[in-house]
Amino acid sequence: MDRHSLLEAAREAALHAYAPYSGFRVGAALVVETPEGPRVVTGANVENASYGITLCAERAALAAALLLIPPASERPGKPARLPLRVSQLAVSCIDAAADAPASQRTPCGACRQWLAELAPDAVYYVDGIERDLALDDLLPLAFRLDRGSGAGAT
Ligand code: THU
Repeated sequence: MDRHSLLEAAREAALHAYAPYSGFRVGAALVVETPEGPRVVTGANVENASYGITLCAERAALAAALLLIPPASERPGKPARLPLRVSQLAVSCIDAAADAPASQRTPCGACRQWLAELAPDAVYYVDGIERDLALDDLLPLAFRLDRGSGAGAT
């Protein structure tokens, strides 16, 4: 999928955010490779009165993407191995000001660690940042354990 279309999907997802506390809506859209071909999965942030348990858009999309791949019982190989292949992921903070810095548009630290786990090989599109990004741009020297770190892990 092209960058523009995936960012559009992220913007649309952000319209579904539940963000009554921050008023800052975020959407994520990713492409996951499934046995039926590539699928787009979206997520939006979901806030809570107990702020710390707020769910970010990126993590909502990643969790949903897992449901599109075959269950572990149907997969050959080590059960711990994750066959999720996320090839692209777009994020849009639709309430960021037009002149907001990159720091108000990029994934938070917790999401970066989730991305390292579940989408390490994706190309990242961040709304408002022209350059395509890789995980290493977002989280250099990411902590990962081989046994759970992605489809390509050994
Ligand atoms: N938020 C995300 O959804 N993703 C991020 O990577 C950064 C922050 C949400 C959490 C909260 O609902 C709002 O943005 C303001 O922090």
